[in-house]
Amino acid sequence: MVHSSATVSHRFPSLMDTIGNTPLVIAKHLTAHLAHITLLLKLEFFSPGGSVKDRMVKFIIDDAEKRGLLKPGGTIVENTSGNTGAAVAMIAATRGYRAILTMPDKVSKEKQKALKAFGAEIVVCPTSATPDSPEHYVNMAKRLAKEIPNSFRVDQYDNLLNPEAHYLSTGPEIWEQSFGAVDYFVASASTGGTVSGVSRYLKERKPSVQVVMPDPVGSIYYEYFHKGTIPHDAACTYLLEGIGEDHLAKAINFKLIDNVVQVSDENAFKMTRRLAKEEGILAGGSSGANVWAALQLAESLKTPATIVAMIPDTGLKYLSKFFDDSWLASHNLTL
Ligand SMILES: Cc1ncc(COP(=O)(O)O)c(C=O)c1O
Repeated sequence: MVHSSATVSHRFPSLMDTIGNTPLVIAKHLTAHLAHITLLLKLEFFSPGGSVKDRMVKFIIDDAEKRGLLKPGGTIVENTSGNTGAAVAMIAATRGYRAILTMPDKVSKEKQKALKAFGAEIVVCPTSATPDSPEHYVNMAKRLAKEIPNSFRVDQYDNLLNPEAHYLSTGPEIWEQSFGAVDYFVASASTGGTVSGVSRYLKERKPSVQVVMPDPVGSIYYEYFHKGTIPHDAACTYLLEGIGEDHLAKAINFKLIDNVVQVSDENAFKMTRRLAKEEGILAGGSSGANVWAALQLAESLKTPATIVAMIPDTGLKYLSKFFDDSWLASHNLTL
């Protein structure tokens, strides 16, 4: 039977409908020596913007539209390490908004170019700018949002809709896809929206779930979690992108995190490359950090356990970085 466009057009999903509902897959090769461990990976690069940030940004923009905070023809401004920016730029493109994205200069060229491809404007700020400097990428976004009329800032660090988005989508997906078998959840943090939102949901369903957060050496979270203090000399000069922080975000809730472990660039990048070569999963550096921490945990466990680790984005965003041997050599890294 032949249908007319008018009768079938409502049956097709829009790009926005493809956000979330990402697969949870088993990683068998990396855990071949650990028969009692089931390691499951949540593949967020299946989302159209290529990362875990799509669902959070869509949730916040939908809410801003509903509440009249973002009006037709308006401008979306946000500070980003590239993935939130890609989600903002993608959604702005589909809905006719202008997008202005500020980021530290360590953000990969692939990510910067992707934002421009979506039609967004980017403002690149020095990674070395301290959190109180006007040059810091977060302060730059705040200033632009104040100055530009009819603009809306997503405010991913302090907007509590960020963890809420993960509480309502990522958490339930992991719970259902793991058939409630999840015992441990591993996710590194920048805003902490993912780890806090997912943890809240999983612990409500199964209070015994333990949440482990890897943190790059040089970020403030490790010391804050273990000692309650913020190191004054946190330079955040590590090479990993999108995780760790130089300031405390409101989106992160440490009461929902059971342990924070430190991860080096080297260990994270090594594991990211193993993920590609041994599991066929081309992912970003934070995925390597998560899987490294998940394997450390797995090796310490004596009884059967199911560990779920986040794979926040795709390795296609970093081909010129830790997948490139000359880049590694230029940073004195041999993996
Ligand atoms: C690659 C990558 N991994 C992990 C995260 C951490 O996510 P969250 O901000 O929800 O803590 C981010 C955030 O920017 C990211 O870009």
